[in-house]
Amino acid sequence: METKVTDPNITADTTATVRAPNLGLTPQECVMPEPNEPCTIIILGATGDLTARKLLPQLFNLYLNAGLPDPFLIVGTSHMDIGETEFRSNMQAALKNAGVYDESRWPDFARALHYRYADFSDLESFKRLARSLRDLDQKSNTRGNRIFYMALPPSVYKSAAQLIGHVGLADENQNGNGWSRIVVEKPFGTDLKTAVDLDQSLSRDFGEHQIFRIDHYLAKETVQNVLMLRFANSLFEPIWNRRYVEYIAITAIEELGVEHRAGYYEKSGVLRDMFQNHMMQLLALTAMEPPSRFEADHVRDEKVKVFRALRPFMVDQLEEYLVLGQYAAGTVEGKPVPAYREEAGVDPDSLTPTFAMMKVNLDNWRWQGVPFYLTSGKRMDRKLTEIAIQFKHVPHSMFRHTLEEAIPANRLILGIYPEETITLTFQTKNPGATVCLRSVTMDFHYQQNSSGPILDAYSRALIDCMLGDQMLFWRQDGVELCWKFLMPILNRCETCDAQAELLHFYKAGTKGPEAIEKIK
Ligand code: BG6
Repeated sequence: METKVTDPNITADTTATVRAPNLGLTPQECVMPEPNEPCTIIILGATGDLTARKLLPQLFNLYLNAGLPDPFLIVGTSHMDIGETEFRSNMQAALKNAGVYDESRWPDFARALHYRYADFSDLESFKRLARSLRDLDQKSNTRGNRIFYMALPPSVYKSAAQLIGHVGLADENQNGNGWSRIVVEKPFGTDLKTAVDLDQSLSRDFGEHQIFRIDHYLAKETVQNVLMLRFANSLFEPIWNRRYVEYIAITAIEELGVEHRAGYYEKSGVLRDMFQNHMMQLLALTAMEPPSRFEADHVRDEKVKVFRALRPFMVDQLEEYLVLGQYAAGTVEGKPVPAYREEAGVDPDSLTPTFAMMKVNLDNWRWQGVPFYLTSGKRMDRKLTEIAIQFKHVPHSMFRHTLEEAIPANRLILGIYPEETITLTFQTKNPGATVCLRSVTMDFHYQQNSSGPILDAYSRALIDCMLGDQMLFWRQDGVELCWKFLMPILNRCETCDAQAELLHFYKAGTKGPEAIEKIK
């Protein structure tokens, strides 16, 4: 296979090629670790959207690729009084919708699929659930190992976790239990206080090693690849610092609007929805020091050091560091789309930001003086997720008398979406007798020469949870440090008289508010 090296600006004749080797690793060797301890995955909220859209399709995908242990059970629970047959046929339909259905493998998978009624406010119903899980365990020999996946609204996390604890299902290695893990999805609270409160409820019955706080960005292949690129090469690390880097731009923008999530988004806005979690993780992976081992707590310790180094925002100079925006009506993919304030369920005077660009500084030796620009927004001109490392200009240009224009500086882009790529831009001579420079781009496409199944972030997170590996999950100290960093900004933006002035409107389908030029 060939990797193209192209001039981003000009013609096909500025194209060169390099080769990427086929490493010849089979999927099982490299791509799909096999959890080998039997277990039951209990999905709380199994009649909801997340289960049908993500969890079941990804569990089936793992099943097809030998990524589930043998034996395994999946027990869906919710407050809806449906029978097992109906649940199975709903899940069959969900797999078909998700495009992962395989007629020949479904019957065996369906046999491992169960449904139990559970009322998340009723202890008796959880006692029945516990008995039922123990029975299933005995029959299927899943050794009492259990994962409780909270596919529930965050407001119910606390009570559901407490009920699991009350009926003894959080205890490990006693009364017929093996290990017990609980998976919660962001948002982890809506501010520092509620995040601490949620953690106190979870940790009443579960130890930190049992709590898996999912951030689906962390489980994206190329996000993980940031660590490989940085720390498995000697090439990048020596220049990955203030001496060579001008700035770093971390971008996660999308074309989608608020969709059907106004109820959640109105209270959350882009800062809680994207910055407190995904953007902070991308920042940490880009900025952290090399951990001494590729193990969960070593990696998470280094991330926490980055969060501790975040320079507190000067809230009285907010406008120099932060631009907030909200989308107005516009056009996306050729179709007219309404303004945020016109979306169903949104307050017509809403001041909720759907866009933010934030200039962040880290007060440590490596990054002093290097700004990190974090940008995220809805209803933008495209969906793009990337980390761009902009290097400094050459210190002296010996070409300045010959070439009129300034020499562009090198740029390394770690592309996460739409394509998983690593792209390096550098200067070369244009072929020919005249002295002309040209910028060329060397692209590495991440999936090139890979033959294994492509794992969705949820599959990856589920496997790691079955393996008990917390590397790709948030630790509570990190959650709290990120909230601490954001709280002064949130307090200021949500309570000050000038709240409306802080919000810049941008047309849907564009690059965001013009005000971003001011903080660049
Ligand atoms: C979610 C946010 O966590 O991430 C959404 O709640 C956002 O608002 C989504 O659209 C973006 O994820 P991805 O993987 O599509 O970049």
